[in-house]
Amino acid sequence: MKGIILAGGKGTRLYPMTKVISKQLLPIYDKPMIYYPLSVLMLAGIKEILLITSPSDIHQYRALLGTGEELGISIEYVIQQYPNGIAESFILGEDFIGNESVCLILGDNIFFGQDLVRELQKSSEIIEGAKIFGYPVKDPSSFGVVEFDSEYNVVSIEEKPLIPKSNYAVPGLYFYDNEVIKIAKSVRKSERGELEITSINNRYLELGKLVVVPLSRGIAWLDTGTPEGMLKAAEYVETIQSRQGLYIACLEEIAWRKKFISDELFRNLGQKLAMTDYGKYILTLLNES
Ligand code: G1P
Repeated sequence: MKGIILAGGKGTRLYPMTKVISKQLLPIYDKPMIYYPLSVLMLAGIKEILLITSPSDIHQYRALLGTGEELGISIEYVIQQYPNGIAESFILGEDFIGNESVCLILGDNIFFGQDLVRELQKSSEIIEGAKIFGYPVKDPSSFGVVEFDSEYNVVSIEEKPLIPKSNYAVPGLYFYDNEVIKIAKSVRKSERGELEITSINNRYLELGKLVVVPLSRGIAWLDTGTPEGMLKAAEYVETIQSRQGLYIACLEEIAWRKKFISDELFRNLGQKLAMTDYGKYILTLLNES
């Protein structure tokens, strides 16, 4: 399975914070936002990753993440010329995806929780159809929202409905078979002028090939859509990390635990950052093991 991270968009809802910097490069507590979705793909065991971003931001992402070699993974880059919508990812990523299935994660989506890893590993084995998730939120109207019938069968997914038919929002984490490329090409722009991921999901639903898995309440899906959401997400990360002494989305740690990199490489990465708590954490892990 291949992985795509979409870090596009202009982040206008976060202006002036995002006037000259890509939203997904802003920090969530002690690391750039993009580390969190990248950690999710790595936890799913996905090692071939495509990062899609805008022409003005691509250099910064390359400078931050490089080829991925340091983490024992491969990261390629493709430009999205204009924020045409999430579904365009599969058209831009067609060559990269090849004949494989694909997981897409949005660059501003943060997930955390033990059950998540189990769910990710299961989902990465998908060979047919689509698998997305449902997560209860208090105000779902700014997301894709799942509509259920009286027996909890999924009837449709609605994008940003004024009157949501349930409180189950669809997080920005999607698993698809290779058909997604063909389906993405058949999608027409919505009223807001975007190729919607929700249109792809509804197409899979029509084909009887969509599975919506409710995420358990033990999993955190954090909002980064507003300054307040970002602050709360940062506080969440700080609270867990300082309480447990274990880091969320430490990419080097995940690469090491998954045996993508050797002890020696891991030590080198820690030493380069030894002046920070982040680097000290890496070195402590090695000493403890
Ligand atoms: C997008 C999707 C929406 C999904 C959300 C998750 O919204 O269109 O269906 O629920 O991501 O973050 P957008 O980021 O375009 O507002």
